[in-house]
Parts: sequence; structure tokens; C-alpha cells
Amino acid sequence: MITINSKFPDTPTSIFTEMSQLAIQHSAINLGQGFPDYPMDPLPIQGVTKAMEDGYNQYAPSSGYLVLREKLAAKTLKEHGQSFDAQSEITITPGATNALFTAIATFIKENDEVLYFDPAYDSYRPSVIAVGGVPIAVPLSYPDFKLDIDLLKDKITPATKMIILNTPHNPTGVTITEAALLKLHDLLVGTNIILVCDEVYEHVIYDGQKHLSPLAYPQLRERTVSVHSFGKMFNCTGWKIGYIIADKHLTEEIRKVHQNNAFSTFSPAQMAIAEYMSDPDTYQRLAGFLQMKRDLLMQSLKDSPLKPLAVQGSYFQLYSYEGFSLMPEKEFAIWLNREAGVTGIPLSALCEQFGDHKLIRFCFAKQDETLKKAAKRLCRLGRSLHPPY
Ligand SMILES: Cc1ncc(COP(=O)(O)O)c(C=O)c1O
Repeated sequence: MITINSKFPDTPTSIFTEMSQLAIQHSAINLGQGFPDYPMDPLPIQGVTKAMEDGYNQYAPSSGYLVLREKLAAKTLKEHGQSFDAQSEITITPGATNALFTAIATFIKENDEVLYFDPAYDSYRPSVIAVGGVPIAVPLSYPDFKLDIDLLKDKITPATKMIILNTPHNPTGVTITEAALLKLHDLLVGTNIILVCDEVYEHVIYDGQKHLSPLAYPQLRERTVSVHSFGKMFNCTGWKIGYIIADKHLTEEIRKVHQNNAFSTFSPAQMAIAEYMSDPDTYQRLAGFLQMKRDLLMQSLKDSPLKPLAVQGSYFQLYSYEGFSLMPEKEFAIWLNREAGVTGIPLSALCEQFGDHKLIRFCFAKQDETLKKAAKRLCRLGRSLHPPY
């Protein structure tokens, strides 16, 4: 047997794998992992078939088909008032997780510190560790989870080389404010700190809010690597296709890693998406569609002991069971899965420093029937179903 000096000795099985296995075991309704259980629009599926028949079956150009990148440049100009060159500033990647890893591997060297708010999307920490960097989780304040730049400010050291910002934020659903972005600008100007902005939920934003991106602020954009996911935009998370927008001087470096880590991205999907996204309604309708689902779940749980926290964006809502049970989050989630037949993710599993606040995350990007069925089961809590403590 060879001896492996693991880079990740403390990394357990992903909470999503663990909870999904439990969901299967107990035939629970799975509101754990963030993916839709409803079908995507058939049009881009037909587009992929057509692209394959038309011969788009070989390697795409490393940075992606220009026709798609031009669409993205036009979209970014329209939404954020900033022009990006499709040739030299936009790169298509095999999903946002890959894009994030590429950005981290490009700019982070041994012992460089990377700051991000805690809780966080679970790929940030291992990606930083994989390239020898030091992940620094900055706990958000409870219960508002405000993306507060002062929290980051206190953690900046001479070793800080990158900040990862996620807005709308998974798993809390909060979004950044204009004042916070301006503060971030003031904090970073004159430094060499790169800002990676994970914007995968840019179109999943509620109550008439507009998504704010650092790309819109000229002095922030020069240091911003903006990461996006078509999987989230078009309800096709399994396609694993996304993109990076970054100024030319950043993109040149990013592509040195991208060309050796992925080289290029699935050709037929690029052609299909380029055609499909010509109509902005294909992604603009997402917010209204998901807002109805958020509200349906909230409304259906109003008589249950689970209390929703405010959510401004993303697929997720946190529910508090404080006052109902003293069980720690993970134990509660396992109990809920087994006894109520509904799977959620304990927030503490997505945190390093944040602690246990009796919160569970549900994904509401599910069919109305799934949400209603889950809510019916959860409404038994406190009536016919009681936790052990
Ligand atoms: C905040 C965040 N970033 C990135 C991703 C990954 O996106 P992709 O599926 O395109 O890799 C997710 C998926 O859940 C996410 O929630």
C-alpha cells in the first residue's frame, strides 16, 4: 500500500452526499441540494441536438465560441453599463465551480490568504487549500447575515491576496448593497487584492431588487474576476457550463490556467445557449418564477414551528427551529429526515466559524407539488411529531 500524505485530512464526505443518501434511505423529500426538480425548457435541449447534427462535436476554442461570448458582452453592457471585449475578457468554463478553482489557482500562491464570508459555498475552502493558500473564513453576523465589509477589513493582512464575494449569497440569500460595494472599493483601492465575485444567482433575485455586480464600478472591475453559471440561469445544473468575465490583464493570466485545466468547454451547449439567450426573457423570468416558489413554501409553513429568515436571492431559504428544539443542527436535520421525511441542510455544515444557531436550509427550486408535499409533512412538527429534546 502506498502512503498518501493527504492534502485534505479533515475533509469529510460532503453534507450533500450524506443527506441525499439519508433522503433515499428514508424516502424523504429532498430539499437539500440546490438543483431544480422540474424540467428545463426543451428549446436549448433541441439546440444541443441541432448543434451536434451541425457538426459542433470537436473541441471548441479554448476561451469559448465567440458567438456566445459576444452575447455575454452585450448582456453585461446592458446590465452593468460596462463594456467588456468578447475576445479578450470573457472565457467559457465547465461550470462556475471550475471557474472559481481556475481563478484561485491563477492568483493564489503558497501561504497567500483568501478571505470569504462564513457560511459559504463549500468549494472555496478546499480550492484554496489545494493550491497551498490559506482560507480565512469571516463569520457573518446573525441574524441579518449582512455582507458587511467592515468584517473583512479587520481580517486583511499583508498576506491577503484575494477576497471571494458571493452575491446573492448561498446559503443565506442575502445580497450586497451599493454602499457595501463602495466601501469594498475604498478598502481595495491601492492594494493588489483580487476580488472574485461569485454571481451564479444574479438572476435569482427577489422583490424587484436589481443585482449589483462589482463589474459596474470601474475601479473595482480592474481587480474583479466575475464568475457565472448557465446551470443556474437556465435550470440545467447538470450541464456544468459557466463563464468568467475579467479585465484583459486578469483574463490573460486566467487563461494560462484554464487552457491546462479544462482547455475548453462542451461545444454543443455553447452553441445552443448562444441561440437561446438571444431572448433575455429566458433568464429574466427566473426571478418571478422562483419568487413564487419561495413564497409558496413560506406560506405553506406559516403554521409550523419553522420560522423563515428573510431571503433576497438564491435558491435557498434558512428556517429557524429555535424555541422548538434544542437539538444541534446536524442532529435535527437527521431527525427531520428520518421522522418527518423532509431533507434539509444543517447550516453549520456550511460553516467554519459561524456556529450552531438552530438553522436549516431548504432549497425551494422545486415543483410546487414537491414543496406542498414537503410542507404538509413539516406541518406535523409540534402536532403529531415532537423532537426528543
Ligand atoms: C454560490 C455558488 N457558486 C457556484 C456554484 C456552482 O455552479 P456550477 O454548478 O455552475 O459549477 C453553486 C452551486 O450550487 C453555488 O451555489
